[in-house]
Amino acid sequence: MTRFRNLIIPLAVCALAFTVQAAGPARQDPKEAAAKQAPPAKAEYAGSEACAGCHEDISKAFAKNPHFNLEKNKHWEGKACEACHGMGSKHAESASAEDIVNPAKQTPGKTDAICLACHRNQSTQVGRIQGGHSRNAIACTSCHDMHKTGAESSFVRLKRNAGINQLCGSCHTAAAAAFMKPHHHKVPEGAMACTSCHNPHSSFMSRNLRQASTGSEPACVNCHGDKRGPFVFEHAPVRTDGCNTCHEPHGSVNPRMLIRQDISLLCMECHSNLQSPSPGGSLGGVPPAFHNMLAPRFRNCTTCHQKIHGSNAGKGLLR
Ligand code: HEC
Ligand code: HEC
Ligand code: HEC
Ligand code: HEC
Ligand code: HEC
Ligand code: HEC
Ligand code: HEC
Ligand code: HEC
Ligand code: HEC
Ligand code: HEC
Repeated sequence: MTRFRNLIIPLAVCALAFTVQAAGPARQDPKEAAAKQAPPAKAEYAGSEACAGCHEDISKAFAKNPHFNLEKNKHWEGKACEACHGMGSKHAESASAEDIVNPAKQTPGKTDAICLACHRNQSTQVGRIQGGHSRNAIACTSCHDMHKTGAESSFVRLKRNAGINQLCGSCHTAAAAAFMKPHHHKVPEGAMACTSCHNPHSSFMSRNLRQASTGSEPACVNCHGDKRGPFVFEHAPVRTDGCNTCHEPHGSVNPRMLIRQDISLLCMECHSNLQSPSPGGSLGGVPPAFHNMLAPRFRNCTTCHQKIHGSNAGKGLLR
């Protein structure tokens, strides 16, 4: 940041402006300036009204944009356009694209910096660094447009499940296709969104999974509270390996979205004296000898072991 300091100290009326400017305009790049053998002329704030003179449609539509509130903010009063586009007086004279910041044409890192100058401290952005999107250069503007209007606008679209699912599905075709399997969460039907389980911005959990409202487990238990426990008699893999040890969270060809067609095979991957590697890597105990695996009665494990997610009644998870 120091290399920008001489250029922008007069302009850094507040920390907010400082960050936005430092992150933004290409014309302030000292290397580029040196290459042109002349210092760049300094732009100043031109004010939103100046922009309106040439960008009539965008300016009119802006009155309905959530960011229009910035016009009433003490730092940005009368100059909200420049909160994202940087100081615009030079551009307002030249009308040249080179003299103004277009966040959509910046590198993803710079675009994010423009937005995060204000949005950084929101709880939904916590953990960004770990998130798969920021690590893979998916900028804010990949998902949020700023000047579309009506039903087209991301401010409207991303308030509805269907709009969110369409956005996510446009890049994650495999994940979207998994919801077409016979047993699935009702995402394609619009009853749930990808964001019911994932935070599009970030998460401290792997796979951008949302945390449950109660703690550090995945958000599954927000809706499936009866599986949360704690139980007096836990089924170890539910607690230690997580729900996806046995379930395919997006969708499955198997009932109950299980990873195996046959429940007994699922159980026997861990509960047999064969050393078969389980999905979670742990091995459970061997069923007692009275389990006659040749008898059909014993093959449907969950008819007896009904409390498969944990029991308060007994170690056998029977009820
Ligand atoms: C004198 C007329 C005029 C004024 C005033 C003006 N613009 Fe522009 N602006 C233009 C024109 C013309 C273009 C298209 C330039 C091009 O495509 O080469 C443009 C393009 C832009 C772009 C897109 C640049 C790009 O790289 O695609 C942005 C962003 C922009 N203006 C923002 C602003 C803002 C913010 C203000 C107010 C501070 C403003 N303009 C004031 C005429 C103006
Ligand atoms: C919250 C940030 C933000 C504010 C405030 C903002 N813009 Fe933009 N603007 C953007 C982004 C991001 C883009 C890139 C295209 C997009 O995502 O919609 C953009 C694109 C533009 C463009 C290029 C349009 C195009 O079709 O390529 C113009 C012109 C423009 N803005 C003018 C304005 C004017 C005028 C104002 C004030 C009335 C304003 N902007 C306020 C973020 C903002
Ligand atoms: C100068 C500060 C500032 C900058 C820069 C800024 N925002 Fe915002 N943004 C706000 C404020 C303040 C609100 C809340 C408006 C309200 O509802 O009062 C907001 C609201 C939003 C919302 C939520 C709107 C809703 O419907 O609830 C989104 C999405 C958003 N901004 C995205 C962006 C993106 C993407 C960028 C970068 C292109 C950006 N913002 C840049 C200040 C800013
Ligand atoms: C992968 C797509 C995606 C990316 C990238 C993305 N967002 Fe979002 N954003 C969404 C979706 C979907 C919603 C609405 C659902 C929700 O609230 O979880 C949203 C909601 C928001 C909101 C309003 C609700 C809230 O969480 O406060 C703000 C503000 C916001 N985004 C800002 C940003 C900023 C700033 C960036 C870049 C640093 C960004 N977003 C990057 C998809 C994205
Ligand atoms: C512009 C394309 C794009 C959009 C839109 C998009 N993503 Fe992504 N997403 C990616 C890329 C690229 C990666 C990183 C590569 C990968 O893991 O597939 C990624 C990674 C992920 C991951 C894995 C993260 C990790 O840390 O392993 C999840 C989960 C995810 N996205 C969910 C979503 C959701 C939910 C939405 C909708 C709100 C969404 N994505 C929208 C491109 C996109
Ligand atoms: C019911 C909760 C839930 C919903 C709804 C959901 N996901 Fe996931 N998603 C998960 C879980 C849990 C994982 C982690 C799976 C793992 O680690 O094996 C995951 C993993 C992912 C991954 C990482 C790669 C992969 O396929 O394992 C991507 C990308 C992803 N989801 C995208 C999406 C998209 C896009 C949507 C909406 C169409 C969506 N998810 C809806 C729970 C969900
Ligand atoms: C937003 C609420 C919500 C979240 C979050 C959620 N689910 Fe569900 N889940 C449901 C609803 C509602 C149903 C039953 C209705 C249906 O068929 O969609 C269901 C059904 C199921 C089923 C049974 C499917 C069947 O065929 O009977 C399983 C297994 C399941 N969810 C596991 C999970 C896992 C694992 C997670 C976390 C990765 C999770 N759920 C997150 C709402 C949720
Ligand atoms: C050890 C394997 C295993 C793990 C781990 C597991 N489940 Fe299950 N789950 C099952 C089996 C087996 C069934 C089918 C039970 C039956 O047939 O009655 C089931 C059924 C379900 C159902 C539908 C029937 C019902 O009881 O509501 C939901 C919802 C569910 N599981 C959610 C979860 C959630 C949420 C987690 C993580 C907290 C989880 N499961 C972890 C094995 C598991
Ligand atoms: C991912 C491996 C895994 C899967 C799959 C699994 N279990 Fe377990 N199970 C365990 C582990 C580990 C224990 C704890 C063993 C211990 O404490 O000695 C356990 C404990 C049990 C117990 C209590 C036994 C005891 O010794 O405390 C029963 C009953 C049980 N499982 C039944 C089932 C049934 C029925 C299924 C199929 C629906 C199943 N398990 C699937 C790993 C698994
Ligand atoms: C007809 C009912 C029934 C069926 C079906 C059944 N079990 Fe059991 N299982 C029991 C009973 C009863 C116990 C003894 C529970 C106790 O001691 O509390 C038991 C005990 C167990 C234990 C050891 C529990 C302990 O306390 O040490 C395991 C592991 C187990 N069963 C796994 C399975 C598996 C895997 C299947 C399916 C292949 C299965 N069971 C099918 C009734 C059944």
